[in-house]
Amino acid sequence: MSRGHIPSFTWANIFHLCTILCMLITPAVMVKHENFKTCEQSGFCKRNRAYADTALSTSNWNSPYTLDPASIKFNKGVLTGTVLKKLATSDENVRLPLTITFHEAGTARVTVDEERRQKGDIELRHDSKARKERYNEAEKWAIVGGTAVSTGAALSKDADQGTTRVLFGQGSKFEAIVRHAPFGIDFKREGETQIQFNDRGLMNFEHWRAKVEKPEVAAAEGSEENQTEDTAVKTDSGEDESTWWEESFGGNTDSKPRGPEAVALDINFPGYGHVYGAAEHTGPLSLKETRGGDGKYSEPYRLYNSDVFEYELDSPMTLYGSIPFVQAHKKDSSVGVFWLNAAETWIDITKSTSTANPLSLGIGNKVTTQTHWFSESGLLDAFVFLGPTPQDVIGSYAELTGFTELPQHFAIAYHQCRWNYVTDEDVKDVDRKFDKHRIPYDVIWLDIEYTDGKKYFTWDPMNFPDPIGMQKQLDQRERKLVGIIDPHIKNEGGYSIVDEMKSKDLAVKNKEGTIFEGWCWPGSSHWIDCFSPKGREWWKSLFRYDKFKGAAKNMFIWNDMNEPSVFNGPETTMPKDNLHYDNWEHRDVHNINGMTFHQATHDALLARDKDEDKHNVRPFVLTRAFFSGSQRLGAMWTGDNQASWGHLEASIPMLLSMGISGYPFAGADVGGFFGNPDKELLTRWYQAGAFYPFMRAHAHIDTRRREPYLAGEPYTQIIAQAIRLRYSLLPAWYTAFHEASTTGAPILRPNYYVHPGDEKGFAIDDQFYLGSYGLLAKPVTKEGEKGQEMYLADKEKYYDYFDYWMYEGPSTVKVAADLDTIPFLMRGGHIIPRRDRPRRSSGLMKFDPLTLVVVLGNSGDAEGTLYLDDGESFDYKDGAYIHRRFHYQGSTSTLMSEDLGVSGKRTKEYLKTMEKVRVEKIVVVGAPDAWRGKTEVEVSEEQGGKSSAARQVELEYHEREAGKAAWAVVRDPGVQVGAGWKIAF
Ligand code: GLC
Repeated sequence: MSRGHIPSFTWANIFHLCTILCMLITPAVMVKHENFKTCEQSGFCKRNRAYADTALSTSNWNSPYTLDPASIKFNKGVLTGTVLKKLATSDENVRLPLTITFHEAGTARVTVDEERRQKGDIELRHDSKARKERYNEAEKWAIVGGTAVSTGAALSKDADQGTTRVLFGQGSKFEAIVRHAPFGIDFKREGETQIQFNDRGLMNFEHWRAKVEKPEVAAAEGSEENQTEDTAVKTDSGEDESTWWEESFGGNTDSKPRGPEAVALDINFPGYGHVYGAAEHTGPLSLKETRGGDGKYSEPYRLYNSDVFEYELDSPMTLYGSIPFVQAHKKDSSVGVFWLNAAETWIDITKSTSTANPLSLGIGNKVTTQTHWFSESGLLDAFVFLGPTPQDVIGSYAELTGFTELPQHFAIAYHQCRWNYVTDEDVKDVDRKFDKHRIPYDVIWLDIEYTDGKKYFTWDPMNFPDPIGMQKQLDQRERKLVGIIDPHIKNEGGYSIVDEMKSKDLAVKNKEGTIFEGWCWPGSSHWIDCFSPKGREWWKSLFRYDKFKGAAKNMFIWNDMNEPSVFNGPETTMPKDNLHYDNWEHRDVHNINGMTFHQATHDALLARDKDEDKHNVRPFVLTRAFFSGSQRLGAMWTGDNQASWGHLEASIPMLLSMGISGYPFAGADVGGFFGNPDKELLTRWYQAGAFYPFMRAHAHIDTRRREPYLAGEPYTQIIAQAIRLRYSLLPAWYTAFHEASTTGAPILRPNYYVHPGDEKGFAIDDQFYLGSYGLLAKPVTKEGEKGQEMYLADKEKYYDYFDYWMYEGPSTVKVAADLDTIPFLMRGGHIIPRRDRPRRSSGLMKFDPLTLVVVLGNSGDAEGTLYLDDGESFDYKDGAYIHRRFHYQGSTSTLMSEDLGVSGKRTKEYLKTMEKVRVEKIVVVGAPDAWRGKTEVEVSEEQGGKSSAARQVELEYHEREAGKAAWAVVRDPGVQVGAGWKIAF
């Protein structure tokens, strides 16, 4: 290059260079804090924090709430009464009807309403058409069971003066001590206080009051400036009413026609050092304190379903979904609270340590976790769970809000998504390439670009001229398509869906009661109101094959943006004074909104096959927004994460948190949504993703293509191995899903859940167990990591899943983790079912034989279960399934298969289809020394309660090598997976 070609440095060049450098050093993406309220900017949050500050700094603080003793009645498991709120400025008391319901299941429910609003005896401002009552329909959406009232609950005669005592739960082991003045409740288990309501006196019920308008004279005399000053004047009671009547944020004003209406309560967990739950947030599983200080948050955890663009890590900021359920845990005891409220909610958490004996030097310190809940409107409605095990608490919560519906089998396999596969040919090409590279996958996804101009239920005619042909190709390998359908409906004349929705009056309305218009992907849009039964019926009709042309039977649905996301709305959502069906304000129902849409789509898929197929297929609908109960309707994912190591790491506590919140069918975008992961990150993400209950790769439209076969070697092979690992363990995953669908048990289980007595493990959230199988994984989430420290909580043997390297707990062990290795152990005492034949999709594995891995530990016994069915229909409800318990008894050296199923009208028919499905291999890890030299086992079948004559089958024994366990294998024992048998070793 000649001298003349060397560019001279100008200021412009320097500027460009600086910009590039800045881009390299600052994180590429950052949440826009200014788009979302802090507590200080959310009127009721600020008021309740201020209330708490006053209460806690006043030495003789007296909560103004008392339970009128004369009002208390107890009848058949239900206590009723009236809580009186004493006003500072008048002798009048505000009447708050109280109901405490004791359920047969051992839970207690405390509901407080406000008499005046209940009766509609209030005036709304601005001629609002909104309902006058406090929203009391959250239970219609969230609660599906567990509410049978206890017949055994009884008043106790030996209550202390000024209290009412109710004994409840099995064997009357629970008690509720209701204190009259100030009103409060202590919940006890076996005599020990576990949960306290209003112990700190932070209960706050913002009762209705008329706005006292400024005296006429002042208004006439004052300048505009004066008027503003006047409104800031405090009320007679000294309360700051500046946020009572109107609130503005980001250029949007909330008209608040009912004035202030918040409910708040403090809930203590005495002796409990950890609380978990309150999903969805990005922080650690064990929730942090929120009132400031080193390593603590200074904002409360917020629950207000929002489309948070480029969300940040380790933050109490709200995200897409809300589950207002927390569990407190201490050694060998778990309890929980479910705060049933669908309005914007915040939770402050603090911990206090009391030292029993000042000389004990920290020993015997008792930590109490104090929580403070506040919601903008609605009832005070709280359920109490008294444990004692984590599963007792999660199980009771799941009984109330519903179990995860058993998904179709394909739904728990690998999903390939991106924004967007651009044509039907593109989809077919990706499909072929997976086969070419021998990488299994089950589902390919279409994001918004498949539609004709973002009009849902249509196809872009240029790019998707033949959707049916595309779905046919997928079906050849039993693969599925998922297409996105969002709740915003393009406001474009001639689009039949919007025309119908308008003419039938089924859209959400604004505060004036006319159709609400806002912006989302299609530009100007209206929103379907799924609170309306007619709206849901209509929505259902849209998915019929004759209506949604181009959708075949193997197409399923993705519901996104259902918080709802409104690009030009306050905090990217709907104005709170919008009106839904029956004139409930959006404010009251916001956190449930997404679930109503998810429910409507779920029901639509359920309905579309009815006439043609009487067994029906199970729906699959993915949702982004959720609330308690959404777990009944399909999977969720954690929204728009980023292709960064931090986001990979955060996905694990986030999914653990979903699992213990009764919503186990959860995943995060594999690879990260925004940005381009480098190959190491992508590979590690697949290794972690192989353990997400919902495993889907997804990417933003601006990212480079990253289908696994594009990564190049060695990455493609390593990714393929991770996906194959998922596929070979599908029998275990499916059984874990079955367990979740019947007991609410999480699928990924944190240490505290599996080892509730092991205090050292209570905060661990970077490793987890899969189902009940003792499979312990700690995927690598740090760049360049070559080894992982894994925490083994109990005195038990653990073996490396891949090479049987032996570890002994309790200890922290270093497990090798080269790029091609996932730190993954098997705990002694379990039996793990697998299907080891590599296939192109899980549908093609339906009749594949099984492998059983018997992992022997310290006791010498092992057990595990297996659940199988057709993976798609509801026939299992008529007994069309196999449910076995495998049990290895060390003392007799026998492995047995026992039936756990209950026969139904389709059992025989199903078993017939599974007749040829056998156990093709049994591997015994940690095989006893005594088996050395053994070459045979004896196999006998059980038929009609009798054992057949024993057959000899070959046993191969593998000697222990340095550091590794001895193992043995029985190849083809010739036994059916659906039948009873016994193998004597
Ligand atoms: C939202 C979703 C994302 C999707 C995009 C386009 O950002 O979270 O997954 O790809 O919308 O539909």
